[in-house]
Amino acid sequence: MLVGGGVGIAALYPIIRALKTAGNKVITILGGRTADLVIMKKECAEHSDELIVTTDDGSEGMKGVVTEAMKMIVRRGEKIDKVWAIGPSIMMKFCTKTAAELGLPIIVSLNPLMVDGTGMCGCCRVSIDGKIFFGCVDGPEFDGHKVNWEEFMSRMCQYKDEEKISMEKYVEEVGEESWL
Ligand code: FES
Repeated sequence: MLVGGGVGIAALYPIIRALKTAGNKVITILGGRTADLVIMKKECAEHSDELIVTTDDGSEGMKGVVTEAMKMIVRRGEKIDKVWAIGPSIMMKFCTKTAAELGLPIIVSLNPLMVDGTGMCGCCRVSIDGKIFFGCVDGPEFDGHKVNWEEFMSRMCQYKDEEKISMEKYVEEVGEESWL
């Protein structure tokens, strides 16, 4: 079961393709706020046995969030060996919670803030099973059940004010269309 959201779908795609090429049954769930924000549907569908789209506003596929689709698949009797989830931190956190409820192993792809990306600055540190790892060199993939999600989410927000100021300046100087 492959679950993707936002730009995480682009990172999920090569995993979908590799799993399918290796002969696995692949069920892909892609979610977003609205239909236009769910990218690479055609590409993912090409390498999936089944593709389920969920949207918060019901503009495409199932109305709701990806975790509801995860539960629906298990409820209908599908035997799932492993889950991958890549997307916004909050999505991966709740996919992990759902996987725990369903008794499934889950791999997540953590995207902590990074500075040097070489394992030297420590900015990207994450706690996995009580031990410190660096997202940039030890990850990005980790066992979702072992991630300290509270710490991870709080570290992701530590420069929120600065990020907002920076984005406002960017839009002011370069224009909104250039990054949308
Ligand atoms: S980004 Fe600096 S150690 Fe990972």
